[in-house]
Amino acid sequence: MKPLSVQSEPTTGALEFPPGFTWGAATAAFQVEGATTADGRTASIWDTFCREPGRVLGGHTGDPGADHYRRVAEDVALMRSLNLGAYRFSVSWPRVRPDGGDLNPAGIGFYDRLVDHLLDNGITPVATLYHWDLPQALEDRGGWAHRDTAARFAEYAETATAVLGDRVSMWTTLNEPWCSAFLGYGSGTHAPGRSDPSAALAAAHHLLLAHGLAMPVIRANARDAVAGITVNLFPVLPASDSAADADAARRVDGLQNRLFLDPVLRGAYPADVLDDVRHLGLAGCVRPGDEEVIAAPVDFVGVNFYRDHHVAAAGAGERAGGAWPGSEDLVFPPRDLPVTALGWEVRPEGLTELLVGLDRDYPGTAWYITENGAAYDDEPVGGEVDDHDRVSYLDGHVRAAHAAVTAGVDLRGYFAWSLLDNFEWAEGYAQRFGIVHVDYATQVRTVKRSGRWYAKVAADNRVPGGAEVW
Ligand code: FCB
Repeated sequence: MKPLSVQSEPTTGALEFPPGFTWGAATAAFQVEGATTADGRTASIWDTFCREPGRVLGGHTGDPGADHYRRVAEDVALMRSLNLGAYRFSVSWPRVRPDGGDLNPAGIGFYDRLVDHLLDNGITPVATLYHWDLPQALEDRGGWAHRDTAARFAEYAETATAVLGDRVSMWTTLNEPWCSAFLGYGSGTHAPGRSDPSAALAAAHHLLLAHGLAMPVIRANARDAVAGITVNLFPVLPASDSAADADAARRVDGLQNRLFLDPVLRGAYPADVLDDVRHLGLAGCVRPGDEEVIAAPVDFVGVNFYRDHHVAAAGAGERAGGAWPGSEDLVFPPRDLPVTALGWEVRPEGLTELLVGLDRDYPGTAWYITENGAAYDDEPVGGEVDDHDRVSYLDGHVRAAHAAVTAGVDLRGYFAWSLLDNFEWAEGYAQRFGIVHVDYATQVRTVKRSGRWYAKVAADNRVPGGAEVW
């Protein structure tokens, strides 16, 4: 690996992390694997969505992805060269139980090999059971809006953990149920592309129920493992001190953060959110005993963090769209902040604020940052990808995480999103989040400057000071 050259741009001094802090990188099955029809895999809702005109930029699909399915040995060697302590991947439900039906030995075989490669290379496997790739056959029966899908998920969890539970020591059930429910069934911008606020709220409940039903299954099959859930959380800042903006912020915090955290960590849905959405029928989906199931004790919560929410009440004619069921009268006014290639505002201190607030509101919880990263338009020049913007983003956020640790938050690890450039959902291949560049035509991998920076952080358990790496 090439040494990092020294540049003049200063950051602040070096920061040590606590011994044993986990440094990893994350991907998800549909985003990197490609091979969407190999070895008995059948369609997920994302395969279907990609084929619908106008849904995904450029009509891109899950192929080729980063061809991770076929290049897994090479990719694990790459992870080792980056000094990763852990690799967070997701298991593909339509590979393992095609059409939501019986076990497909060839499909689970891929994860069997992946896990063995990781362990052989000293990398801890961290498996997510659901990163948005519901078998299409289950969507055809109602998808997450249908209660039965939660029971099907528990069956799939049984299959995956029965095979991998002896070697995978860290599990998360779901990735970002807010996106699955509210982008998938509310705004319709993600698969399966439905726009129905009642279905979106039913989906949120059934996803949480699926999580709760899967927890004892994981406990039984992976006795020594830790298990939890990954949610995408945002600090929510009102745009002004007006009562209307404060209420807009309360509602966004409710639908984004507390709707998912409260039932898992406190055993009940937040009363104000239930009131906000009462006309949409969420309470009617919640049967006696469901909240107890959802509140199965977790060992940790994974936090995916990219940005904060700056919220105001909408003026006449403005609407936030269906991602906020029952609260469409919101806007997210832009601020004078740097933005990533996706237009996401960069404000790293939001991560410290979030973690410190979580520790206050949900004391006694262990946290991991299971995703953090940024899209920038980087291309190799002379075999190098000089992604200073991404180094700056990661440096700022890792420092913000450190500030939370210093403030006493039980934060145990950090996973960069993403190991590889990959299929960025409705954005197709247009957005690059990797610390490793992928040329999709040749599948050549090029470690970016950010990858070299991150390898040093992971090796030293320490963020280097400015003069050491820039
Ligand atoms: C998160 C997703 C992940 C990736 C990043 C950029 O919401 O979990 O798959 O797309 O955003």
